[in-house]
Amino acid sequence: MTPLLATRAISRRFGGLWAVDGVDLALGDGEILGVIGPNGAGKTTLFALISGSLAPTSGEVLLEGRRLSGLPAHRVVRAGVVRTHQLVRPFPNLTVAENVAVGAIHGARRAGGGVAERTADALAFAGLADRAGQPPATLTLAGRKRLELARALATAPRVLLLDEVIAGVSPAEAQALAALVRRLRDERGISVVMIEHVMPAVMTLSDRVVVLDHGHKIAEGGPLDVVREPRVIEAYLGKGAAEART
Ligand SMILES: Nc1ncnc2c1ncn2[C@@H]1O[C@H](COP(=O)(O)OP(=O)(O)OP(=O)(O)O)[C@@H](O)[C@H]1O
Ligand SMILES: [Mg+2]
Repeated sequence: MTPLLATRAISRRFGGLWAVDGVDLALGDGEILGVIGPNGAGKTTLFALISGSLAPTSGEVLLEGRRLSGLPAHRVVRAGVVRTHQLVRPFPNLTVAENVAVGAIHGARRAGGGVAERTADALAFAGLADRAGQPPATLTLAGRKRLELARALATAPRVLLLDEVIAGVSPAEAQALAALVRRLRDERGISVVMIEHVMPAVMTLSDRVVVLDHGHKIAEGGPLDVVREPRVIEAYLGKGAAEART
């Protein structure tokens, strides 16, 4: 069966460094796929390649078997593949609602409906309705992550690429954000690729997990299985760590 989203041997070089090196990825319709790996593994670069903000050195990205790579980023959004950013930077001079409306303009063009309705729906979904008129600077980090989710939802995506939407917030907020991610899939039917360092969230949310290290995919499978693999333990803890644990 053709996966909803796939990368084929996707690679990106920066000077002498292969940040992403020959990665094959497949996302099924309605799936939540976790992407983990140590700092600098190439996770964010992989998202930049899929979302069209960075051109691959080689390889390709396919949406339902059709080539996505080579399209400019706004056309990728129009096709329904939308990323959030690890460093959340909303437009500071727009209100919370206006930031979401920027996404809703894409969503309305893509899937129909009004910009105002899409904006209100996304704000309510993300629990930000009462912050609509405020500047984003009044939000906490968790609030800005909710805003990033609302902006992405407003684009009416089929595939969401979430870059650390849970990391860095309190345990209670992390649980609330994880619940939102699950609802995106369960209630909205959005397929999700999720980069995340917060292990409890990855383990409970992901149907499947892909592990990157130095640009390579080193493991793939069920969340409980991949974290037991010696290669994965070594990638996180260094050589010899896997033996030391047995
Ligand atoms: N624009 C760039 N120019 C040069 N090198 C880059 C660029 N972007 C990323 N890199 C390098 O590519 C490698 C992968 O970076 P990337 O940000 O994709 O990692 P990551 O897995 O998202 O890490 P983290 O968990 O810290 O967010 C790193 O060595 C990084 O320094
Ligand atoms: Mg990153």
